[in-house]
Amino acid sequence: MQKAKSNNIVWHQSTVSKKDRGKLFGHRAAALWFTGLSGSGKSTLAHEVEYRLFKRGCHTYVLDGDNVRHGLNRDLGFSQEDRQENIRRLAELAHLFTDAGMIVLSAFISPFRADRQKARDILEKGEFVEIFCRCNLKECEQRDPKGLYKKARAGEISEFTGISSPYEEPENPEIVVDTDSDEIDGCVNKIISCLERKNIISSLSM
Ligand code: ADX
Repeated sequence: MQKAKSNNIVWHQSTVSKKDRGKLFGHRAAALWFTGLSGSGKSTLAHEVEYRLFKRGCHTYVLDGDNVRHGLNRDLGFSQEDRQENIRRLAELAHLFTDAGMIVLSAFISPFRADRQKARDILEKGEFVEIFCRCNLKECEQRDPKGLYKKARAGEISEFTGISSPYEEPENPEIVVDTDSDEIDGCVNKIISCLERKNIISSLSM
């Protein structure tokens, strides 16, 4: 972890433990980290999974790449350096949410393995659940929900992931969902089942 700029800061331990929060909420804390190309279905899936969890009484929140870039990270662009800083801040944010006992669902391209690994390292063991939204570039480009691939092909956007900036696929993610071939419901079920298997949520809690 990068050292803080000041030496004169002291960590203050919370009186309420994560375990206490877990007892109150009825589930464990987790960061569901959706990664994949733009248009691969990260946000759609994150919101669908959140809805299912919320209906079961879980304490959840979705962090969406585009949204966070309107506020907290509005000073960042899409150079490799800025994406690194984007993911670093968002991993810290996810850490705060898990510290609060919540299930946070992050939908960022997060194209670089090293940055995702750093996010995993910040969180407690077992809390980071990497979900690879696998969808081939051709399909993402056909969907082009925001018209950005078209602009990238026309040279109007530089460093666009998949076109002029790399995407490094996860090597060992907890979950892979094939969003180009599988229905949304099937992908959501796969994720919920994994959370039950990992005892993050109880299979009985409704
Ligand atoms: S990340 O690479 O730093 O993780 P992030 O998830 O925050 O990216 O933001 C990605 C979103 O920003 C895309 O879904 C798209 O809507 C928009 N965007 C704008 N410019 C780019 C670009 N050059 N590359 C990728 N996405 C971009």
